[in-house]
Amino acid sequence: MNSKGKGTAVSTHVRAGAEDDLEELTRIYNHYVVSTPITFDIEPFTAEQRRPWLESHPDHGRHRLLVAEEGGKVLGYATSSPFRPKQAYETSVETSVYVAPEQVGRGVGGLLYASLFEVLEQEDVRQALAGIALPNEASRRLHLRFGFEPVGVYREVGRKFGKFWDVAWFQRSLSPGRVTP
Ligand SMILES: CC(C)(COP(=O)(O)OP(=O)(O)OC[C@H]1O[C@@H](n2cnc3c(N)ncnc32)[C@H](O)[C@@H]1OP(=O)(O)O)[C@@H](O)C(=O)NCCC(=O)NCCS
Repeated sequence: MNSKGKGTAVSTHVRAGAEDDLEELTRIYNHYVVSTPITFDIEPFTAEQRRPWLESHPDHGRHRLLVAEEGGKVLGYATSSPFRPKQAYETSVETSVYVAPEQVGRGVGGLLYASLFEVLEQEDVRQALAGIALPNEASRRLHLRFGFEPVGVYREVGRKFGKFWDVAWFQRSLSPGRVTP
């Protein structure tokens, strides 16, 4: 999967995440853990602590981890993960995307989501859901661009940095042949 994004280089490509990415993926995630309310994890992880997360996203099936790479450098990643554990929810996935802080705003997130939805269209997935802690205009715009629709706001469900945060939920359906931007 090659770059179609606005500011990304032709050499930017998206592939399945692998063991060797664990350190860098942990570094990217920890940045948002410690400095933003975007994720409701509060304490940073060691790479070893993130290994079960990596291993729960194999290179097949509904629950994927895709990585954007340019010149051997990881720029960001996108995941599809279980929405809820009970079995009837299995055709629903929660999607998420994290771009390295020094790479945001150049289309990497869009590139990752385009690739993720291309893959998911081939899987037995009916609905993608995304929870966005507010405010997060970049994420809101990205999800709207990819056909997500707002379904409601959970008020003050997370407490971080001594404040309560709302989470807006967005949802899109997947159907064979659907074109992503
Ligand atoms: C959200 C995120 C994945 C978007 O990825 P990106 O590579 O920066 O995305 P893009 O460059 O394609 O920009 C996406 C949209 O956000 C807009 N945008 C980017 N930075 C913005 C900012 N600081 N404020 C407002 N809008 C912004 C862009 O104009 C674009 O809008 P458009 O789709 O209407 O053209 C990325 O910013 C990121 O990793 N943020 C931190 C982690 C995060 O919030 N993850 C999502 C959790 S729900």
